Amino acid sequence: MIDARYVVTELQEMREDGHLSDALLRYAVRSLYKSDERYSWVGVYLLSDDRLELWLHNYVGAPTEHARIPVGEGVCGTAVAHGANQNVPDVTEFPGYLACSPSVKSELVVLIRAGGEIYGQFDIDSNVADAFTDLDEAAIQMIADKLAEQLTRERR
Ligand code: SME
Repeated sequence: MIDARYVVTELQEMREDGHLSDALLRYAVRSLYKSDERYSWVGVYLLSDDRLELWLHNYVGAPTEHARIPVGEGVCGTAVAHGANQNVPDVTEFPGYLACSPSVKSELVVLIRAGGEIYGQFDIDSNVADAFTDLDEAAIQMIADKLAEQLTRERR
């Protein structure tokens, strides 16, 4: 289980030291991947300026062909289209699921957003079925909210 408070403190210190969102997003992905054996693939997608596609920013895990995902497609695109995190206990049951790797059984998408603006998302795959709890989601949301603060600052 990720120690979200620790990661959020580190991210805040990075901000105060002048690091930009690019460094923060990479640090967050690595921290999440290392924190839990159930997390077999961790990545961040950012929403394109025209808000039509998600673009893969960085990830740890097996290479994926899904570098760009149209909004509305797959678990990732559905999260943006509905403006809601997606906790999918069994990916085979999700209509339009985009397979990253055949070993993946469950998936969690947590949006990175501030106010009404969606910047992107954390996408986490697990080789364990029904791997993600509300606690996982809440912890990752804390980290996502800290990243959204930095992305908001950079967009001004
Ligand atoms: N499974 C995702 C695609 C991204 S890969 O998991 C890395 C989806 O259905 O949107």
